[in-house]
Amino acid sequence: MKISASLLNKKNKFLILGCGFTGSFFAKTVRQLGCTVVTSSRSKKKDPDSFVFNSESEVIPNKKIFDGVTHVLSCIPPDKCGNDPVLGSLKDKLKSLSLEWVGYLSTTGVYGNTKGDWVSEINEPNPYQKRSHKRLNCEKEWIESGLPVQIFRLPGIYGPGRSTFEAIKNKKIRVISKKNQVFSRIHVADITNAIIYLLQNKNSLKFRQVINIADDEPCSQIEVIQYCYNLLGLTMPKPILFEDAKKELTPIAQSFWMENRRVSNKLLCETLGYKLIYKNYRTGLKNCYLNS
Ligand SMILES: NC(=O)c1ccc[n+]([C@@H]2O[C@H](COP(=O)([O-])OP(=O)(O)OC[C@H]3O[C@@H](n4cnc5c(N)ncnc54)[C@H](OP(=O)(O)O)[C@@H]3O)[C@@H](O)[C@H]2O)c1
Repeated sequence: MKISASLLNKKNKFLILGCGFTGSFFAKTVRQLGCTVVTSSRSKKKDPDSFVFNSESEVIPNKKIFDGVTHVLSCIPPDKCGNDPVLGSLKDKLKSLSLEWVGYLSTTGVYGNTKGDWVSEINEPNPYQKRSHKRLNCEKEWIESGLPVQIFRLPGIYGPGRSTFEAIKNKKIRVISKKNQVFSRIHVADITNAIIYLLQNKNSLKFRQVINIADDEPCSQIEVIQYCYNLLGLTMPKPILFEDAKKELTPIAQSFWMENRRVSNKLLCETLGYKLIYKNYRTGLKNCYLNS
């Protein structure tokens, strides 16, 4: 990762709202840079720097948590009604702070179905699923909040502890074949490092409000599963045609197969100069294999 004289150091305090899979990876990494980090979850954790925030049960963090916060990252999806949990409960509080930066993790679902075509930030979002309409509304709400927000649109997130290997191990794998269907994906380390890269190079890069973070190689799910079986030295089960598998899939799983798009990372990787750690699922999954 290209890092100029560090703009991130112990003077910075990060508030990470929604310390799940991506939030905790990000927290761990910025802590290593010397920053102070406080994180939220919906239930009490042993970590003394973790606090409870739950918009649904209206548990709001103590105001002391916000003292000295310079950066905020929200990793919390829209609530059941489609509202943004953070803005619904904490917008005024966040606006009262002198924040340098706010990041919001969104999804590439807002682009809808491009029938396999590439899609980039200059394309008008065209959500297909109800949840993606909700997500786009949350993005708009963040943009209109007046906070110094940057939105990151993410495809399928994987990394050590959450990848095809776990699905194979837990016997939850379904090998489904659908002609010409591809998915985009991103390793959690690249989400974290891309955001840190943008923060570290903030003074020399033109600010972009919406940025896709995806790897270089959208591809079929079968290709990915086959690669994992090969690494494990096991034989992949015979693929089932999507039309036959469909009836056994949950509505949410089905919905992922109704959209087909290739997410472009040119803005991030060419215009802004970020170098991916894991350019494709092969290098990314090898990392998961070695760390699981
Ligand atoms: N997973 C993917 O493949 C994917 C793809 C594209 C975009 N995204 C989006 O990217 C973001 C991060 O993804 P992730 O997979 O890292 O998320 P994750 O592991 O599911 O973590 C979500 C976090 O949000 C918290 N949360 C959920 N509802 C909340 C509420 N009403 N009030 C307060 N906190 C709440 C959770 O609390 P607990 O810790 O208590 O559970 C958790 O810490 C999410 O917005 C997700 O929708 C995910």
